[in-house]
Amino acid sequence: MRRKVAAGNWKMNGVKASLGEVEALKPVVTGGCDVILCPPATLVAAMVQAAEGSGIMVGGQDCHWNESGAHTGDIAAEMLADAGAGAVILGHSERRADHGETDDMVNRKTEAAWRAGLTAIVCVGETEAERDAGTTLDVIGGQLDGSTPDGATGENTIIAYEPVWAIGTGRTPTLEEIAEVHDFLRGKLVARFGSAGEAFRILYGGSVKPTNAAEIFAVSNVDGGLVGGASLKASDFSGIVTAAG
Ligand code: 13P
Repeated sequence: MRRKVAAGNWKMNGVKASLGEVEALKPVVTGGCDVILCPPATLVAAMVQAAEGSGIMVGGQDCHWNESGAHTGDIAAEMLADAGAGAVILGHSERRADHGETDDMVNRKTEAAWRAGLTAIVCVGETEAERDAGTTLDVIGGQLDGSTPDGATGENTIIAYEPVWAIGTGRTPTLEEIAEVHDFLRGKLVARFGSAGEAFRILYGGSVKPTNAAEIFAVSNVDGGLVGGASLKASDFSGIVTAAG
């Protein structure tokens, strides 16, 4: 049995005053699922403090593949770990689109995350044009193969399927479409890693809300969610955490 995950991606939202949301979330974090919150890097250390004793894991939203050096504006996995993070989102479609991140870069970042002891949350997902062209599984399969190093295990890596056209739009794939992609990803993981491929958690992301979380999390091979907008307020995210267990 894979333990479900409710992961929140705050993206470029949140200041110190937002940490009250973590306080408000604590009562619903009862240990029935893994809860991960990924604030902007400026809030990682403070959120780790705010979340102390709650079981909430704090994560980053990106890291460099190098441990240190002349990379102005970048952040190393070791720095996130030093601030108390336990995970990092890698290869989010916004990073791929806004910063030109390639599968190869995400692959190297994943190795860096492991080196620092972080769980890598590796994101894949097709654009609307790719879905319309019928290439969804090709695109996602290529991203999965290219972005995950051979050392990936269900312990050090979580996969997140986020259709780009469902992010922040209020549109979601049908439950059948979600099942098709998640079953496909599971099949690819098992083909590559053998029975160890069954241990990876595969999260769905894209317009997850308290109102649709339970039905999405019940879909075949959906092991929880990676949530943007609805993770910012404890009043929304608590319903999603409860739906995950
Ligand atoms: P929304 O939940 O706001 O659609 O964002 C999803 C996402 O990109 C999480 O990483």
